[in-house]
Amino acid sequence: MVFGFSAMPERPSNDHEALQSTRRAEVLARLEGVLAGRKRLTLEVGSGHGHFLNAYAVAHPDRFCVGIDIMSDRVRRGLRKRDRAGLANLAFLHAEAGDLLAVLPAEVKFEAVFVLFPDPWPKRRHWKNRLIQPAFLSTLARSSVAGAPLYFRTDYEPYFAEAREVVASHADWELRNDMPWPFEYTTVFQARAPVYHSLIAIRR
Ligand SMILES: C[S@@+](CC[C@H](N)C(=O)[O-])C[C@H]1O[C@@H](n2cnc3c(N)ncnc32)[C@H](O)[C@@H]1O
Repeated sequence: MVFGFSAMPERPSNDHEALQSTRRAEVLARLEGVLAGRKRLTLEVGSGHGHFLNAYAVAHPDRFCVGIDIMSDRVRRGLRKRDRAGLANLAFLHAEAGDLLAVLPAEVKFEAVFVLFPDPWPKRRHWKNRLIQPAFLSTLARSSVAGAPLYFRTDYEPYFAEAREVVASHADWELRNDMPWPFEYTTVFQARAPVYHSLIAIRR
């Protein structure tokens, strides 16, 4: 299932617009259900089974963490872990990244964003579906506080090279090779990866 920035038809049909608008209204309703007046969030895009963000939320009780994923069963698994741990500073939402950013209230901003082992889309004709693209970075920057870090990690070297290039040439983000990875917790996909690459960028 793909319905992000890149999957958008150049001239959307009325059907596409109607579906998108219904979907975004649902995402907003879910988001409002967890925000409760909060204005600063730590976001994980593509949170999968929720291992990383559950562990991160335990270690950062001062942060309110939101994980989003387009696969509802993964969201449910993340929520089950959260509930077992009794965490009050963590939510998982069934949402696509572009939809979340489109409905995020202007006063709500991200103070950190994690993108861990995103779908690599190795075939050339699918590259347009990759998450890290200039339009996504622009929208993410508008929704992030100045100084907010973007943490990106992948085991697919060609995607890493492309993402580094896209981030390095983006006006809103500064690549920071000097910064340490802030928190280690092996995700499901990380456990399967013999090698992986990480980058950190700061919202200017
Ligand atoms: C390869 S998995 C990695 C999951 C997890 N981060 C990990 O490392 O185990 C990528 C995840 O991103 C989700 N995903 C893909 N595109 C997305 C999008 N545009 N918005 C939100 N989630 C997305 C997929 O459903 C999948 O769970």
